[in-house]
This record gives sequence, structure tokens and C-alpha cells, in this order.
Amino acid sequence: MDQNYQELKEWLEATKDQPLETMAGFFDARTDDYEEHMIHWKRHYQWMAELLPASVKSLLDIGCGTGLELDCVFRRFPLLQVTGIDLSEQMLSKLRQKHSDKALTLVCDDYFLWNMGTECFDAVISFETLHHFRAEKKTALFQKIYRCLKPGGVYLECDYVASSQAIEDMVFAECERRRKRDNIPDDVFVHFDTPLTLEHEMNAIKSAGFPIAELVGFLPEDDHTPMIRAIK
Ligand SMILES: C[S@@+](CC[C@H](N)C(=O)[O-])C[C@H]1O[C@@H](n2cnc3c(N)ncnc32)[C@H](O)[C@@H]1O
Repeated sequence: MDQNYQELKEWLEATKDQPLETMAGFFDARTDDYEEHMIHWKRHYQWMAELLPASVKSLLDIGCGTGLELDCVFRRFPLLQVTGIDLSEQMLSKLRQKHSDKALTLVCDDYFLWNMGTECFDAVISFETLHHFRAEKKTALFQKIYRCLKPGGVYLECDYVASSQAIEDMVFAECERRRKRDNIPDDVFVHFDTPLTLEHEMNAIKSAGFPIAELVGFLPEDDHTPMIRAIK
């Protein structure tokens, strides 16, 4: 087994008695120091903004949080029409304060349930929000993303992946164990990381019908966080 697997196994063992937190509860409680915590991905945020096509006019950001990726996007496209959706009202509130002068619509809702519409966005982005869900659930979400994009529209995803099947299996099994232990109903989101392997993530995106779905690459400092692009 690789080093990542061993380290993760030890961390899961060390935290095994910690109660699970709901997704919104977790982020609501950590909004104040959230941006400092995410500084690690500074260059990835910039990279995502650079990858947006120059012609983009409307954008949907799913799981936008406090909008760290949007800080970079607005620097490049100050007039962009942006819709951001997130479960955490506290995170959205911080984003609203930062960009009160922008064409920004914020929705506090679950992106799996929220109606994204049909052919209404030039681009959809997701940054570090999808590493909590099973492939089947993501496939349905990617179908919605496909539908809401205009023809030729682009989906960009930057999120960390499991470096092996063994890691994917281990984290899903541990999440299931903790959910059962804490009597969490199936329809309640918890903050526990369950990334898919890159292959499984790509398969889920491809299965939504995108004619182009490709790995853009990794930044040199982080070989677990791929940038993925799909084009309708
Ligand atoms: C790690 S943060 C990333 C925020 C932002 N994209 C960034 O990179 O700074 C993950 C965000 O996804 C949101 N989230 C997770 N599941 C969600 C869901 N089903 N619907 C809407 N938002 C969700 C969380 O509330 C949280 O704000």
C-alpha cells in the first residue's frame, strides 16, 4: 500500500470517535477562518479563472462558498453575470459582502435539487465541493450541468481525487460506518471527504453526455488536485 493510504488510515483511526457534522453546519461554523485555510489552492483558483473562455458572459458556480475562485474570476471578468449556489448561508454572506458591486445572484440551496434550467449559462464551475458524494449522485448532477450549459458551454472542475481504488474504498466504508453510528439519515449531507479516483470522476462526467471531457492537468505543487474541463 502507498504512503497516502497509510497516512490516511492512521488519520481515520485517530479521528474514529469524532462525531460527523452536517455539511452546512460544518461550513457555517468555520466561515471566519475558512479563506486562510484554503490559501493552499491560491494558484488553482487563478488557473480556473484563466481557463474560462474570453467570451463568457454568464456563469454558475456550484458550491461557491465564500467565492475564492470568484475573486479571481471577477478580476478577469468584472461584468460577468454570476449565479452562486451553496448550502451555507454564512459562506454566502461573506461572498455577498466581498462582491456587493457585482452582478451576483446567490442561492442558498442544495445543488442536487436546485433547478439549473436549460441552456442558460456559458460556463459552470465547481471548486473543492464534489469530494463528498457517490458517483451515482454526481452523474445525475453532471447531467443537470450539461443541460444548463449553452451549446459550446464549458464545465470546469478542480477538486482533489483519491490516489488509488483502495483509498476510495476505505473512505466510503468509513463514512458509512460513521453515518450508521451517528444515525444520520441517507438524505442528510455530512462533511466527510470521500473523493473518487480520477478515473471514476472522469467517467461520471463523461456519462452525462459531454462530447469533450478531458484532464487539463495538475499544478506541480499538488498531484492530487486535477483540473478537469468538459465542453458541451
Ligand atoms: C470546501 S468548500 C469550497 C468553497 C469554494 N468553492 C472554494 O473553493 O473556496 C465546499 C462548499 O460546498 C458547499 N456544498 C457542499 N455540498 C453542497 C450541496 N449539496 N449544495 C450546495 N452547496 C454544497 C459547502 O457548503 C461549502 O461551502
